[in-house]
Amino acid sequence: VSSAILVTGAAGFIGSHVIDVLLQRGERVVGVDNLSRGTLEGLSTACNHERFRFVQADLSERSSFQVLESSGPYHEVWHLAANSDILAGTKDPSVDHRDTFLTTFNTLLFMRQTGVRNLVFASTSAVYGNMDKLLTEDIGPLFPISSYGAMKLASEASISAAVESFLEHAWILRFPNVIGPRATHGIIYDLLGKLAARPAAMEVLGDGKQQKPYLHVAELVEAMFFIRDKSNAALNYYNIGPADTGVTVRSIAEAVIRCAAPDVPIHYTGGAKGWTGDVPKFAYSVEKLRSLGWSAKLSSAQAVERAVAEIHAEFTASCKS
Ligand SMILES: NC(=O)c1ccc[n+]([C@@H]2O[C@H](COP(=O)([O-])OP(=O)(O)OC[C@H]3O[C@@H](n4cnc5c(N)ncnc54)[C@H](O)[C@@H]3O)[C@@H](O)[C@H]2O)c1
Repeated sequence: VSSAILVTGAAGFIGSHVIDVLLQRGERVVGVDNLSRGTLEGLSTACNHERFRFVQADLSERSSFQVLESSGPYHEVWHLAANSDILAGTKDPSVDHRDTFLTTFNTLLFMRQTGVRNLVFASTSAVYGNMDKLLTEDIGPLFPISSYGAMKLASEASISAAVESFLEHAWILRFPNVIGPRATHGIIYDLLGKLAARPAAMEVLGDGKQQKPYLHVAELVEAMFFIRDKSNAALNYYNIGPADTGVTVRSIAEAVIRCAAPDVPIHYTGGAKGWTGDVPKFAYSVEKLRSLGWSAKLSSAQAVERAVAEIHAEFTASCKS
């Protein structure tokens, strides 16, 4: 059997898109997920592919890796499994410890034991905390304000130590807000869900002035592969984002209303932060990635417009089925 790439968080929003591209590139792929947040729906194309195999397992348990070993050998891991629900981690930080940190720690142990030496890791702007400066990759000290960000930063630290001792290459990729089809969470998904449940008015957390960069998942995945292919240091770390400083929550709420429910009023709950642990505003430097040769083509506003239409179409289809 030829060597495979292991993708964790395979049934999730971004994982499913990564797998589609890996299969297009001719790789053999093993996808693992405990299906706590992801669903097999997004993997419907992959599941028909002879070079793809899905394993349901909880990676916070060390014993789960025995099952994965029999589907190997592997030459690379793309580690995307995590708790993606920041609010859930604020309410109970053990969720982030288990699904974000322990899954990373156990994945590294597995790679060490089985001699897999290349790791691509999905990190986040949340590692930077609430900084009033342009976020360049080398800024510090890093003090995250969410348990999610804390466990991602701890994961980055463990990966750095692994590079010193047994990994040949690691690519730490810090994502912005990612949007697009197959979303399992995120602002557009949440707003459309709220509208479906209560169509008379749409509630938005915060005052609507939070401003962040948004990247379409198709462009995110393109950038991930670009960095994986072009950056060859032992430890590679990049912000991935659009070229602009982002759009406001208000403009996203208005895009959702325009597309899904014209004339429905928007109700803002008030306050600068949407919730505890929310970073209300950040500006990402993508200069390092631009120097490597990749830039996003869509602005945040264009990505939002496209994703609202795509996620709305998915909601409409699932209502009919
Ligand atoms: N979507 C974004 O805006 C965004 C931004 C920054 C970083 N990220 C990171 O990108 C990665 C993918 O995010 P996503 O948006 O696709 O989220 P997602 O929730 O759709 O995908 C994560 C997947 O991991 C799985 N998972 C969670 N705990 C697990 C465990 N213990 N064992 C096995 N599987 C487990 C979930 O079932 C889910 O399918 C995550 O690491 C996330 O933190 C996402």
